[in-house]
Amino acid sequence: MAIKYNPKVIEHFKNPHNQGVIENPDAEALVGSPACGDQIAIYLKIGPGDVIEDIKFESFGCASNIATASIVTDLAKGKSIEEAMEIKWTKAVEELGGLPPVKYHCSVLAIDGLRAAIRDYLRKTGRLKEEELSPDLVREELYHVIYPPRGVDIVSLKRVKYIGVEEGKVRIELSFEEDDPYLNEVVQEIREKISELPGVHDIEIVNQGVGEH
Ligand code: FES
Repeated sequence: MAIKYNPKVIEHFKNPHNQGVIENPDAEALVGSPACGDQIAIYLKIGPGDVIEDIKFESFGCASNIATASIVTDLAKGKSIEEAMEIKWTKAVEELGGLPPVKYHCSVLAIDGLRAAIRDYLRKTGRLKEEELSPDLVREELYHVIYPPRGVDIVSLKRVKYIGVEEGKVRIELSFEEDDPYLNEVVQEIREKISELPGVHDIEIVNQGVGEH
């Protein structure tokens, strides 16, 4: 069955803003989506006051990834890196006038690319500190892991029961049915996202199941 996109998504897909490469960027990132295997590259030019002066993307993904990358780069341009870090995938979906839930992960990929590029900049300028690793930072990342059949993140769905961080070791306890067909995909996506965080040496993900505890 064909997916129906609204006119704004189609417009951004057909005439994407900020598509291309920045030569000698201040920061860049290439990230992939475990959900579909697609990739996106983001390039940044950062000016005084940590403002994103220019941003470009290359998408190796689907129509909604191109459309969300177009809108995300529009949203990020002219913002400080702190402000850009706060842009959520839900905001991108909202700005596009909505996406089919099965395509939410495409907008997550665009946001992941932006955040990874900003982290690359912080790393290059010596401002990404290992001690910043905390349960809150981990939880923030888990807001970007979508449970595919619902199109909602696993934190909002209350599938994350516990997050522990100790000396670079992250332990995450989940609450899914043991035979949930999406569990492996979710676990893989968590690993991918958490391994990107500064100071992570080990990740333990345990599914506690659902039920009477
Ligand atoms: Fe892969 Fe959209 S299906 S990015």
